[in-house]
Amino acid sequence: MSLRREDARLAGQRIVISAGPTFEDIDPVRFIGNRSSGKMGFAIAAAAARRAADVVLVAGPVTLPTPMGLRRVDVRSAAQMHAAVLAELPADVYVGAAAVADFTPQRVAPSKIKKQAGVDTLTLELVRTTDILADVAAHAQRPRLVVGFAAETDHVEQYARGKLEKKKLDLIAANRVGIAGSGFESDDNALMVYWRDGERALGPAPKTQLADALLDLIAERLHA
Ligand code: CTP
Repeated sequence: MSLRREDARLAGQRIVISAGPTFEDIDPVRFIGNRSSGKMGFAIAAAAARRAADVVLVAGPVTLPTPMGLRRVDVRSAAQMHAAVLAELPADVYVGAAAVADFTPQRVAPSKIKKQAGVDTLTLELVRTTDILADVAAHAQRPRLVVGFAAETDHVEQYARGKLEKKKLDLIAANRVGIAGSGFESDDNALMVYWRDGERALGPAPKTQLADALLDLIAERLHA
């Protein structure tokens, strides 16, 4: 198989990608989750593997098949994803495409929480999870390119650039969630990608095509 000249720029590069949701356990039968399908992250990982990159895909709980030519590490919680991603450093590129839970129950009940007669409310104490993306970007073994995602409905550029700066990222891909047929659970998506002195609109397009467009941009920025 031969690669387009542009595609060859990622050959041999070590790329760590996190994808999917995280599930935060409440008790042995319940959890807090979100609706991320993992499709975007899996598409990026598959496209990077096709370009002969050395790809590690850290996957939250999803039902997607493992793309060819990469190593997959399955995790469940935000804490597990954090540990699994850090264990894969050093790397050339990190793409944080997972919808990581921002909060997790302070403690997991050891047995199933039962209803109590006459009690109509239940309070769950949640604590912040570690921001994996910000942690990777501040790490002693920081990848040369750290790429984040943001789901924004309005003030897309302002909020996305805020995260770019705050988390010290090189690129941020904002899901244009307001657009019909884009975002969570959809096969199509549209991204607005920002970096310090530039921006590019990608899509709307099928997530597989969008993954390739994002990798073109990643390869460009990696060699800028
Ligand atoms: N992220 C992470 N670790 C977390 C939370 C988020 O690595 N504990 C990453 C996600 O993988 C994603 C980006 O951070 O790349 C999303 O940033 P976040 O600040 O969570 O943005 P939103 O989800 O858009 O949330 P909000 O706008 O509410 O801040």
